[in-house]
Amino acid sequence: MPFPATRLRRLRRTGALRGLVRETRLDAGDLILPLFVTHGEDRRTPIAAMPGVERLTIEHAVEEAAQAAALKIPAVMLFGIPADKDPEGSGAWDDEGVVQLAIRAIKEQLPDLLVIPDLCLCEYTSHGHCGILKGDTVDNDATLPLLARTAVSHARAGADLIAPSDMMDGRVGAIRAGLDEEGFDDLPILAYSAKFASAFYGPFREAADSTPAQGDRRGYQMDPANGDEALREVLQDVEEGADLVMVKPALPYLDVIRRAKDATHLPLVAYNVSGEYAMVKAAAAAGYLDERATVLEALTSIRRAGADAVITYHAKDAARWLSEMD
Ligand code: PBG
Repeated sequence: MPFPATRLRRLRRTGALRGLVRETRLDAGDLILPLFVTHGEDRRTPIAAMPGVERLTIEHAVEEAAQAAALKIPAVMLFGIPADKDPEGSGAWDDEGVVQLAIRAIKEQLPDLLVIPDLCLCEYTSHGHCGILKGDTVDNDATLPLLARTAVSHARAGADLIAPSDMMDGRVGAIRAGLDEEGFDDLPILAYSAKFASAFYGPFREAADSTPAQGDRRGYQMDPANGDEALREVLQDVEEGADLVMVKPALPYLDVIRRAKDATHLPLVAYNVSGEYAMVKAAAAAGYLDERATVLEALTSIRRAGADAVITYHAKDAARWLSEMD
């Protein structure tokens, strides 16, 4: 019914009416907080491009995880920064490695909090690529057993989800087989399925010390221009056994989130990455944007696009703001 019979403003008149017809809700229960865990003791090191985010030694990571849990955030994602790196990235599957120790420490204190270690070699390889090198290129098939081995190591340490972010072809299947062989057939895989070669990862690479020494990641991460190919990545991971799929980054790829959700009907996770965080923090610090309103709008938009859960460095702030609104 056209205007004037239909007046869409009728349902916007009061807060109560707007609340009644609101289609998307944001809840602390939908958020996942990433943490950077480093070796050593009793250190918190700020990350310049990510105000409010620090590299943490294990005891401080446990503190942060406890704060997240107290704010009703159900999960933390862990990135390890090891003391030593080598060409293979062997620190990734060290049962006494920094991430494995952090998983155990967090699960011991907070058994109900979900712990999701990021599964990739780039923080552990001396060259900074996400797999082992053959000449100048990353050797896909030779990397797969190393990823499976790392997944089993995460599982033994007590990880609740296995989250491969490397973008090798066939890794979800290889990891599923490796886990099942060791008796971890109950452990779900959250696949970074559509991960784009993005400039928005810049601040993360400073945080995780994982910038490739040579070249870039465009030989394995996706071209930002490709939406159909993103769906092929997602569907292939589903076929190989992914239980949840991820789109990353989030805000520049809301269309991909929607398409992946509609194509799979699987639980979908979106990663609101370091550069997305840095932009909001910088603009807010300059007085150009209202941080709270911007963050809540951005996270709601990611949910509206089709994400069930959002990995975000804003998680603690957002959870606090949401609890104040109740
Ligand atoms: C590691 C990994 C990266 C991010 C998450 N896992 C960096 C990369 O692929 O270069 C980026 C996260 C962020 O920017 O917040 N493979």
